[in-house]
Amino acid sequence: MNAANKKINFYFWAQLITYHLSLITQKMRQQIVAGNWKMNKTLDEGTELIKSVLEKLEQRPRGPVVFATPFPFLLAAAKILKVRKGFYLAAQNCHHEEKGAYTGEVSVDMLSSVGAEYVIIGHSERRQYFKETNEQLAKKVNLALGKGLLPIFCCGEPLDIREKGTHVGYVAKQLKASLFHLPTAEFRKVVIAYEPIWAIGTGRTASTEQAQEMHAAIRVLLAKKYGKDVADGTSILYGGSCNAQNAPDLFRQPDVDGGLIGGASLKADDFVAIVNAMK
Ligand code: 13P
Repeated sequence: MNAANKKINFYFWAQLITYHLSLITQKMRQQIVAGNWKMNKTLDEGTELIKSVLEKLEQRPRGPVVFATPFPFLLAAAKILKVRKGFYLAAQNCHHEEKGAYTGEVSVDMLSSVGAEYVIIGHSERRQYFKETNEQLAKKVNLALGKGLLPIFCCGEPLDIREKGTHVGYVAKQLKASLFHLPTAEFRKVVIAYEPIWAIGTGRTASTEQAQEMHAAIRVLLAKKYGKDVADGTSILYGGSCNAQNAPDLFRQPDVDGGLIGGASLKADDFVAIVNAMK
């Protein structure tokens, strides 16, 4: 083999190895379906719902399925879920301080001690009714990651912002304020949920074009901050009147990686249909 051929050979193998290494290190994003029960169900109703979903889903779902139950059901839900692969438990909130004199609050340590793996942070209902600020949400994200819980971080604009056409900038501000302080390795663990407030519980879902436009814009923002690999590896869920009928179209959008489901997660058949809509 002459010197020129040797050189070509060397570059060929070097490129092949680099390509395969990048496949290994690149986190391919996954579709996720998470049910946020909000303040619904009793313990018996909740455990029945989970059992019924598990029964109806005979095959392993294409991506993680997460149940965000109210705090008092977490332990019971964890016991049912731990025997089935692909199913995870989330809390709907956590406190922004590690521990202490915060009567009635629940810490990240408590959540992980009862088996929660994810925690929803920054849901619009928490921002609106409990006046949670971007700074508090940033603290919650830090605490969750520090204790090994994966944040499902919610963002989304109210109707007047959507009507003014400034929704992309509004959501960008929320993400920058509560997530962009994270180093890359930590940011990779975050799941984002885009939930336009005007679509939550209203039966008025975002159109597939509206969802795709915002999800793509979020991904561009992530790419600018963390690079394309990280942006491509981040799951961005859609939430807001997502149901068994519209989930397949929404999930087919290139930048929609599953959903955060409210009302439709309370009925086993509906939730199972949405889980089955994952691509
Ligand atoms: P709905 O699916 O009931 O609109 O709720 C969405 C939501 O807020 C999930 O977190």
